[in-house]
Amino acid sequence: MKKLLDLLSEEMGKAFEAAGYDPALGRVTISNRPDLCEYQCNGAMAGAKQYHKAPIMIANDVAEKLTASAAFREAVAAAPGFLNLKLSEEFLADMVSRMAGEPKFGLELPERKKIIIDYGGANVAKPLHVGHLRPAIIGESIKRICRYVGHEVIGDVHLGDWGLQMGLVIMGVKERQPGLVYFDEEYQGEYPQEAPFTISELEEIYPAASARSKEDAAFKAAAMEATVKLQNGVRGYRALWKHILNVSVTDLKKNYAGLNVAFDLWKGESDVHELIPEMVAYMKDGGYAYISEGALVVDVKEETDTKEMPPCMILKSDGASLYNTTDLATIMERMRLYHPDQIIYITDKRQDLYFEQVFRCARKTKLVEPGTELKWIGNGTMNGSDGKPFKTREGGVMRLENLIRETREEMYRKIREGREMSGEEAEKVADMVAVAALKYGDLSNQAAKDYVFDIDRFTSFEGDTGPYILYTVVRIKSILNKYREQGGSLDGLCLRVAGSESEKALQMQLAQFNAMIQSAAEETAPHKVCAFLYDLANAFNHFYHETKILSEEDETRKKGLLALLVLVRDMMEACVEVLGFEVPDKM
Ligand code: ARG
Repeated sequence: MKKLLDLLSEEMGKAFEAAGYDPALGRVTISNRPDLCEYQCNGAMAGAKQYHKAPIMIANDVAEKLTASAAFREAVAAAPGFLNLKLSEEFLADMVSRMAGEPKFGLELPERKKIIIDYGGANVAKPLHVGHLRPAIIGESIKRICRYVGHEVIGDVHLGDWGLQMGLVIMGVKERQPGLVYFDEEYQGEYPQEAPFTISELEEIYPAASARSKEDAAFKAAAMEATVKLQNGVRGYRALWKHILNVSVTDLKKNYAGLNVAFDLWKGESDVHELIPEMVAYMKDGGYAYISEGALVVDVKEETDTKEMPPCMILKSDGASLYNTTDLATIMERMRLYHPDQIIYITDKRQDLYFEQVFRCARKTKLVEPGTELKWIGNGTMNGSDGKPFKTREGGVMRLENLIRETREEMYRKIREGREMSGEEAEKVADMVAVAALKYGDLSNQAAKDYVFDIDRFTSFEGDTGPYILYTVVRIKSILNKYREQGGSLDGLCLRVAGSESEKALQMQLAQFNAMIQSAAEETAPHKVCAFLYDLANAFNHFYHETKILSEEDETRKKGLLALLVLVRDMMEACVEVLGFEVPDKM
């Protein structure tokens, strides 16, 4: 169904036309002076030049024609030429109850696109740290928003599983257990099924090996050699690598699941290894790639560049592939397998130059067709109170697991405070609300902006927070439950014309859902869903504080109010769902 502002603009256009003006001038927007009116139209100002008339004269002409409109209760021309509008309560209630009766609140679906979202950014053998929080949370929400509006979306974690870190881990394992059969080049037999390390051992091996490679040049050279050997298919290294991958992926899945983040594809850099020779030959044959100082590169500079734009390196002089190489080959594979209309990447914003190079290279070498859009979203960092990327109290890199645990503990403390809930139940609720606190705290900021992680604020039940949103939904659910316990039924309820200003304001907020979710999808902007939810929660709470609901004596009015509550609940739950968290039954 049509969006509210479009309907109002149509009505307004008719009035402009009836008064002898261009209907295109009748664009209606939400008022920026809510003290004066609910909606406004500035078309008279825009038309003044065209019609050589004072704007107020045009506004007066149009206002006169609007008296017959069913959409507006009041249309006042105000100096110098504004049209200040108030909506008709009947028109609004009709619109909102039609929304309630339709799937997805009557959302008109945009043209269906096939979209791949590359997010998460996990690296094998390295624990997830807070730097991985934002791409996972933002990507998951964008995926859900795009699906909600009807697109076909494939989420891919694109594991970092093929670079130098693998060589480092292999050398780290070799140092600890040099006798392992994986390092015996003569060995022809089958390799053991069981991994020679646990996840906690693996997580010690990588940082130790990485630190060592910075001081010990020979160790680093050995790790680089191991990386090449692995990539070239040396059996023992491949077998060991499989173990690293399996142990690590099992742990990653557990961690992501704790954040309600789920990928359709668990592909990684290694998956396109076999495609690299073909891609390299194609780039050479096409005259795109050439050898420079031993390495194979593609120039991606453009004349209009004002900043330095180094060539995109495809192969290092030792023949090893790089982060670029696998990303480009992945684009080639994605085009072949999925033929997407769009590929969206979400990474830390410090990878901006990198993605610029990769995208330019993919376009120049025609790995992507002109119809496929490559889009990169660079996220800002989550900072500590010192304004620097969030650290542990000791100053180290914070593991994601620990951040989540600390948030849960804080949430648990707040939930136990002043509530009668058993420890076990409180724990369950705290888990759910903590995820909401983290995710909402993150998503309510624009992706590109940095923000400060403030555990006390994020877990608060008041203000623009996840717990406040959930608390509001839970409050609505408990009113509805009470009504049912009293023998009432929620079937066949019918929303009614607003009986108060706060009820009308709530209905007007509900009416904006369709426009909001459409623009959140188009602009890949989950923060718009958060802003909407917060306004909706505020509008509801304001209405709730001044309205009798269950004690309302007029049965018809009571049922109308309950219908409104059901709609608010459903819409808030739909928003929570696309943000990627859940509403508990109680809290
Ligand atoms: N693993 C990478 C990192 O930790 C992020 C991967 C992002 N995706 C991509 N296709 N490059 O920085």
